[in-house]
Amino acid sequence: MSSTVLKNDRYLRALLQEPVDTTPVWIMRQAGRYLPEYRALRKQAGSFMDLCTNPELACEVTLQPLERFDLDAAILFSDILTIPDAMGLGLYFAEGEGPCFERPIRSAADVAAIGIPDPELELSYVTDAVRTIRKALDGRVPLIGFSGSPWTLATYMVEGGTSKDFSKVKGMLYSDPKTLHLLLDKLADSVISYLNAQIAAGAQSVMIFDTWGGVLSPHVYKEFSLQYMAKIVDGLQREAEGRKVPVTLFTKNGGRWATSIAATGCDAIGVDWTSDLKEVGEAVGDKVALQGNMDPSVLYADEETMRTEVKRVLSDFGDKPTGHVFNLGHGIHQHVNPDHLKIVVDSVHEFGRKG
Ligand code: CP3
Repeated sequence: MSSTVLKNDRYLRALLQEPVDTTPVWIMRQAGRYLPEYRALRKQAGSFMDLCTNPELACEVTLQPLERFDLDAAILFSDILTIPDAMGLGLYFAEGEGPCFERPIRSAADVAAIGIPDPELELSYVTDAVRTIRKALDGRVPLIGFSGSPWTLATYMVEGGTSKDFSKVKGMLYSDPKTLHLLLDKLADSVISYLNAQIAAGAQSVMIFDTWGGVLSPHVYKEFSLQYMAKIVDGLQREAEGRKVPVTLFTKNGGRWATSIAATGCDAIGVDWTSDLKEVGEAVGDKVALQGNMDPSVLYADEETMRTEVKRVLSDFGDKPTGHVFNLGHGIHQHVNPDHLKIVVDSVHEFGRKG
């Protein structure tokens, strides 16, 4: 990857707690169904996975939100379930049901049968997309690569899809922890090799989505989710193109464990809207940067309310000169009016100005 000079690096600088001119902002799921241009392209392409597996289309979708909003980062258009798909589980999206697997993991034999995917073979559509997007961005903003956490991937792989009570994977956790640990360890190795391949292809920062870590009891969270994210943090290539590659860990509903998450050695913690950003900030001190944490539902409100809520999040973070990346506390909803997001993004830059 040839290095390009970044025209806007305030997202990377904030993650590394270096001085910034204003608070950077990007939005989880910033490319997606709330954008009419996404829905049009998706209709043309066929399925969601048809978009993900075509590097030119994935690139086009990645750039769509940047054409509308003054965002400080782009995020690779893909999905966390590419790894289990590459392991042979047969990912498909049933209309209205979310992701499903044809061949879920139910036994020690199932775990033994899966291998660690080679990212430049089975997942080359992802690394190709990263290279294509970097070229198209031409240094405009940094590109974020990502993966699911081993625990979150395991929930989908064992349940066979989305779940409400996680009975199968939690059943395995309590009745056959050895098998679950073997699965999580294979997933951690897969995520390390996948994220390092994204970094080698040009991802300038990486984020791990632990969407379902928050459904665990504290001691179980540490043993079955955090431990494997810590292994990943240790295994990542933390520098590329002469710059640090910051790592963000996001456990939804994990604000209460912020100090343990910070102890992994990650650069930043993603905070969802059920936590108080001020309390999390006080708990972690200067150890990590924070990302978050406006309630995605604020985007249904009127302009004045949205601007007030942006100010609230910024003031919850406090008056530190850096170390905050503004985001929603989880992905943007599909029924949000895109014009509302423009108000939020512009307000962050306006109210976040330093000095
Ligand atoms: O943030 C971004 O814009 C980058 C793209 C991205 C997607 N999924 C695109 C997507 C990212 C980072 C993800 C991560 C992801 N995928 C997570 C972790 C983050 C989170 O939201 O907690 C999870 C749990 C998944 C699994 C997954 N993929 C779900 C639950 C769904 C939604 C199913 C549904 O129908 O509501 C998907 C599909 C998906 N991933 C869509 C997008 C834009 C919708 C695809 C479509 O129907 O067009």
